[in-house]
Amino acid sequence: MSPNHRLSAFNTTIFAEMSALAAATDAINLGQGFPDTDGPPEIREAAVCAIREGRGNQYPPGPGIPELRQSIAHHQFHWYGLSYDPEAEVLVTAGATEALAAALLALVEPGDEVLVLEPYYDSYAACIALAGGTRVPVTLHAGADGFTLDLDELRAAVTRHTKVILLNTPHNPTGTVLARDELSAIAELACEHDLLVISDEVYEHLVYGNRQHLPIATLPGMRERTLTISSSGKTFSFTGWKVGWVTGTPELVAAVRSVKQFLTYVSSGPFQYAIAEALRLPDTYFKEFRDELAGKRDLMVTGLREAGFTVLPPRGTYFVTADIRPLAAAGVPQCEDGPAFCRSLPERSGVVAIPNSVFYDSTEGAPFVRFAFCKRRGTLDEAVRRLRNLGR
Ligand SMILES: Cc1ncc(COP(=O)(O)O)c(C=O)c1O
Repeated sequence: MSPNHRLSAFNTTIFAEMSALAAATDAINLGQGFPDTDGPPEIREAAVCAIREGRGNQYPPGPGIPELRQSIAHHQFHWYGLSYDPEAEVLVTAGATEALAAALLALVEPGDEVLVLEPYYDSYAACIALAGGTRVPVTLHAGADGFTLDLDELRAAVTRHTKVILLNTPHNPTGTVLARDELSAIAELACEHDLLVISDEVYEHLVYGNRQHLPIATLPGMRERTLTISSSGKTFSFTGWKVGWVTGTPELVAAVRSVKQFLTYVSSGPFQYAIAEALRLPDTYFKEFRDELAGKRDLMVTGLREAGFTVLPPRGTYFVTADIRPLAAAGVPQCEDGPAFCRSLPERSGVVAIPNSVFYDSTEGAPFVRFAFCKRRGTLDEAVRRLRNLGR
C-alpha cells in the first residue's frame, strides 16, 4: 500500500503522544489546550434542550442553522463593527479545524505558496500539504517582551507564487497579539500583491493587558480578501462540541462551502442551537472569562520564572512559552532540546508540556516549551509547585 505521499511527513500528533505520556505517568497535563472546566451551565442546558426538543438531531442545513449564522453575524458586528450577511457570508463548520482545512483546500492549488507565521499550529502544515501548496514560514522571533513579527522578513517572503497569508492572532503557541500597525502592514502587502488572507482568530476573546484583538478584515481593502475563522471551543470552553465558523465575501464563503460539503457536510446539530445563544451572552461573560484566564496567566508566568525558566509572557491565548536553557545552570539535563526535555519532564516533575519545535521548520524553536494554563487554579498551583523542584 502506498499512502498519499503529501502526508508522509505527518505522523501521530505530539498532543496524542504527550497526552498518552501524561496518562501513563499520572502527570498534570498542561500539554493539550483544553479547559478542565466546562462552559456556562445555561449553554449546556440549551444543548440538552435542543436534543430533547428534536432540534438538530437530524442533518442541520449545510451552511449551519439560521439562528447560529445570525448570531455569528451579530457577534462580528457587536465586537468589531464588521457586517456580514448571515445567508451568504457566514458558514458554520466542524470547529475551526474544518474551517481551516476547507479554506485551504478551496483557495490553494499545487504550486501556490502560503505564508504562515512560524511557529504554526500543526493543522496548517498538513492542510497546505493536502492542497498541494507550499508553506513558507515567517518566523516570530523571541525577545525580552515576547515574540515579534519582522515585517521586512514577511515582505521578503512574498514571491510571484504567493497566494495566501495564513494569519493567527492571538497566536498559538507564542501568545503574540498582532498590533494595528503590524496588521496594517500585512494588509498593505496583501492588497499590493493581490493576496488572500485566512485569519485564524479562535483566541479572539483572550487578549490581556492594553492590547485589543483586531480582525484584519476591519482594515481598508481587507474585507473582500479575508476569510476570518473562529470557533466556540476556546471562547465558551466547549472544545468537544466542534462548532466553528468562517465569515467572508459570498464568493470566498461559497468556495469554502463547496469543500466543506464533502468533508463533513454538516455537524454538531444540537450544539449549534446552544452556541447561537452563547454568542449573544452579555459582554460581562466575555470579560469575566478573559479576566479569569489573565489571572491564571500571571500565576503561570510567576511560577515558571520561580522554577528557573525564562518566560516569554503571552499577550493572548491560554498558552505560555518558556525558554528551558537557563535551567542548565541548576543542573537540569537536556536544556537545549525541547522534545527530549518534554519527554522526560513527566517522569522528572509530573508535568506535561509541549515542545514548540514541532511547530517550526527551522531550529529556532528548539529551546522553547509550551504550557497550557486553561486549567483549574489548584491544578496550576500544583504544577508550579512540582516544577519548582526541577533543579533540586
Ligand atoms: C490556533 C488554533 N486554530 C484552530 C484550532 C482548532 O479549533 P477547533 O477545536 O475549533 O477545531 C486550535 C485549537 O487548539 C488552535 O489553537
